[in-house]
Amino acid sequence: MADPYYITTAISYPNGAPHIGHAYEAVAADAMARFRRAQGRDVFFMTGTDEHGLKMAQAARDKGMEPAELAAEMSSMFKVMCDNLQVSYDRFIRTTDPDHKAAVQHMWKKMEERGDLYLGRYEGWYSVRDEAYYDEDELTEGEGGQKLSPQGTPVEWTVEESWFFKLSAYGDRLLAHIEANPDFIQPESRRNEVVRFLEGGLKDLSVSRTSFDWGVPVPGSNNHVMYVWLDALTNYVTGVGYPDGGENWDRYWPCDVHLVGKDIVRFHAVYWPAFLMSAGVELPRQIYGHGHLLAPGGVKMSKSLGNVVDPQLMLDRYGVEAFRYYLLREVKMSSDGSVSEEGLVTRVNAELANSFGNLVQRSLSMVHKNLDGILPAAGSADQDKALLEAVRKACEEELPNAFETFGFTAGIEAWLGAVYACNAYIDAEAPWTLKKTDPDRMADVLGTLVATIAPLTKAVAPIVPGASERILALLATGEGGNPIDKPTPAFPRLELASEESAA
Ligand code: MSP
Repeated sequence: MADPYYITTAISYPNGAPHIGHAYEAVAADAMARFRRAQGRDVFFMTGTDEHGLKMAQAARDKGMEPAELAAEMSSMFKVMCDNLQVSYDRFIRTTDPDHKAAVQHMWKKMEERGDLYLGRYEGWYSVRDEAYYDEDELTEGEGGQKLSPQGTPVEWTVEESWFFKLSAYGDRLLAHIEANPDFIQPESRRNEVVRFLEGGLKDLSVSRTSFDWGVPVPGSNNHVMYVWLDALTNYVTGVGYPDGGENWDRYWPCDVHLVGKDIVRFHAVYWPAFLMSAGVELPRQIYGHGHLLAPGGVKMSKSLGNVVDPQLMLDRYGVEAFRYYLLREVKMSSDGSVSEEGLVTRVNAELANSFGNLVQRSLSMVHKNLDGILPAAGSADQDKALLEAVRKACEEELPNAFETFGFTAGIEAWLGAVYACNAYIDAEAPWTLKKTDPDRMADVLGTLVATIAPLTKAVAPIVPGASERILALLATGEGGNPIDKPTPAFPRLELASEESAA
């Protein structure tokens, strides 16, 4: 049986339409899932929507809708976004799914049995936008004296009866776990942040609310709904069969990686493992906290600034291959980075259309035209072998080594190095001049080029799955000594659609 691999994204709040940050995380997790499948791993990949809580209740109220109605409508937009991005999830989970409610209530009972829950009264700051509690000393002051969370969102003073989780009892165990498992929180900058936070000491956490009812009821306390983060985090175990167990549970838990944004690492690397320890469930192997996509000039994207990019618009304008490639190529997963339409067009034209696409198109067109479409064998001159070795090294070593740790940018750079080497080889060998003078050498050169196409295509397939499939299908028409079909360009050249972003 293949080695299992379980990967998740964060589940998004469907209080509005998806934005490019959601697309980024989904595509990154998908590229990793595809990379693992290609390695022969048995992958379970889950994404979905986080539908309860005050933020959803308020968004619905503002729109004059019921929360369930808003959640259903917006959740389907997230699902469509994933489908349009070719995100190959195995389950799209919604926290309103019936099996999830049962899982969260079970989790609660386990934490209660452990003696970790007690009834009290919460008095403190709460950010609805972050669905998070903050201490006074974490806050800053914004315009008009409005207190702001470290994420820059408004907080409000909240007083209500609440169940508490004895988070304070878990600080040392969490620190010991992080120490013993250096890969538990990645990249390292995030791990350091979490360690600093833990070293500051933990307070008990309010885990239920009584001032609204859009959530999972607390067993035995029906005027309480669970804190939305306890509810949401539990999705990761619901999706593989908690609490009943079964085949998926045995195979996929503990999860290999929760891929989440840097803003929510604390929930995943502190609260979630503490909840699991309390409930007696094994911890996930890794939390990877990726950076954020920013608007040009390093500006945060936000609805109020009107600079949020709609992923569907990018798909409509530039197509799924270009958009996926740009997202993973442009910004290192471990840091923040700016994106723009102009940047997308420039990158994709230079690297996919003019370099890789052109290599495939030129090589296969020459085979089609000059060799009746019959794929020749690779040559064995020194320069032929050197080229094949450069391609092998990039595709079998450098790119996979980088992808192992979400280094998509570095992996693609190594791959591009091999693509550039192929194009330099074409220019140096000039096979079109050999047709009359040395047709055998022409066949060797074209054969060498053909031998680079499959490995280069397979290596980049997790990033651009559709185009890769088409290239491999074209090559496959030439198997068994058959002539290949007439090649058509795999990556069309793009034109900038929006004038604004060109400015
Ligand atoms: N619902 C919570 C997550 C619960 S997980 C148990 C949430 N939702 S969210 O919709 O606000 O964000 C979903 C994911 O998108 C998060 O990982 C977040 O970091 C990510 N991103 C939101 N904006 C982003 C960018 N601008 N850039 C990259 N990722 C971004 O948080």
